[in-house]
Amino acid sequence: MRLRRVLAVFGIVVALLCTVCAGAGVWIWNIQVVDTTGEVDFTRPLAVPPLAPSRMEDGKRVFDLRAQAGTHDFGRGATPTWGFNGDLLGPTLRAARGEQVVVNVTNALDQTTTVHWHGMHLPPDMDGGPHQLVAAGKTWSPSWRIEQPAASLWYHPHLHGETAKHVYQGLAGMFLIDDPATSAAALPHEYGVDDIPVIVQDKNFDGDGKLDDAPGVFGGVGILGDTIAVNGTVGPYLQVTTQRVRLRLLNGSNARAYDFGFADGRRFALVGTDGGLLESAYETDRVMLSPGERAEIVVTVRPGERTVLRSYPPDLGTGVFGRFTGGEDTFDVLQLRAAGTLAARPEVPQRLVAVPRLARADAAQQRAFKLSGHNINGSQMDMTRVDFAPEKDTTEIWKVVNNDGQPHNFHVHDVQFQVLTRNGAAPPPQLAGWKDTVYLPPNETFELIMKFTDYADADTPYMFHCHVLFHEDAGMMGQFVVVPPGGKPGVIDHGAHLAHAGHH
Ligand code: C2O
Ligand code: CU
Ligand code: CU
Repeated sequence: MRLRRVLAVFGIVVALLCTVCAGAGVWIWNIQVVDTTGEVDFTRPLAVPPLAPSRMEDGKRVFDLRAQAGTHDFGRGATPTWGFNGDLLGPTLRAARGEQVVVNVTNALDQTTTVHWHGMHLPPDMDGGPHQLVAAGKTWSPSWRIEQPAASLWYHPHLHGETAKHVYQGLAGMFLIDDPATSAAALPHEYGVDDIPVIVQDKNFDGDGKLDDAPGVFGGVGILGDTIAVNGTVGPYLQVTTQRVRLRLLNGSNARAYDFGFADGRRFALVGTDGGLLESAYETDRVMLSPGERAEIVVTVRPGERTVLRSYPPDLGTGVFGRFTGGEDTFDVLQLRAAGTLAARPEVPQRLVAVPRLARADAAQQRAFKLSGHNINGSQMDMTRVDFAPEKDTTEIWKVVNNDGQPHNFHVHDVQFQVLTRNGAAPPPQLAGWKDTVYLPPNETFELIMKFTDYADADTPYMFHCHVLFHEDAGMMGQFVVVPPGGKPGVIDHGAHLAHAGHH
């Protein structure tokens, strides 16, 4: 009798526990999906980052950036943030091909940071990666010549182990390159009027309105926010006054991928990717961007109408568990409100620019990269280890594969590359132009082709890494140096940099 009663009680307890567990499981499963369709009120005008003032000194275009702490209104009171020359994000730097630029980067934070020029072709000691520390209170003044096609690049901190935090706090901005020699003049190009930066970031807030940087359930990719800020504006609308508008989309998020399209399904012209304009405009209804990637699109509107830029669930290629990394989320991002009368704008020309193809036959070297866990080729970032050393003026093919089930992408400093093949086939139009970051669905193989020109420095490395910032910080990064023909890599003395910057 007694045994039976004990067993019965035991059974009931087990049943209750199972119900609780299953319930919790279902709940955890369900809360993974965020869908803000129709729920965003679009009551705030989209903030447009100001163009950074610049001056000419000794024939150089000089900018000033100051990283500082402040507070920003995301609609939850005064949220503590970081920004450049302001409370959040930074001004848009703009320079022309052929110009020599200087950026005075002052660190007014209470801790070390760096500022990296993502997508820029430049000498490695100007790159602003983890070796170019800017200690609190110090100013770093990199200078280089802009020598690459017109493009929408960006800048952000790159302090090893801290990049996710610094970017999430608000340190990021755009760097636009103009190329007077190319006649993309038919594309909308009046900054803030018909040519608009669209920096998309997802944020989480705690009960006090502070930024919450806790990783998502299972924490696989780090922070995934449930609130979208565009140029820092939550619930933004853009007053459109021209028949066509160019949106320079930047995925400035730590981990989230977006698949941009419009709520009404309208098509748009994809005209540019990370490193420049496409050879020909590509008409489509979707463009997917993983962290760090950019796309320039031209949207046509009719007088008086409204439409919403939306992010549809991105195809991460990660199967049913994609819901834990944002793969099933939908966000209303930005409302476009067309004025009653619109200034005419020319049609998007079919041919945009010449994009010279890098050829397989010219490749002097092939390298293979496997991304898995927080490793690339089985090892983690080591500030003093150089992984390999391409020779200046040579072309290389990098075969990159993500061979775990997590979303990863791949970013290379110094160069813009071309996707030679995706799973052995020619790349789709979205990947046919200049790229510096590419999304890697699990088990797909990408061959990237790139040429290392102009700068050789055996002692100062460039980075390659996954741009999911949590992965990057966790060590999914490596270093290469570009050496003169026949040269050998030098010794990377990070200790000296550390001492110099007063970092510990
Ligand atoms: Cu956008 Cu190495 O970074
Ligand atoms: Cu970069
Ligand atoms: Cu990754």
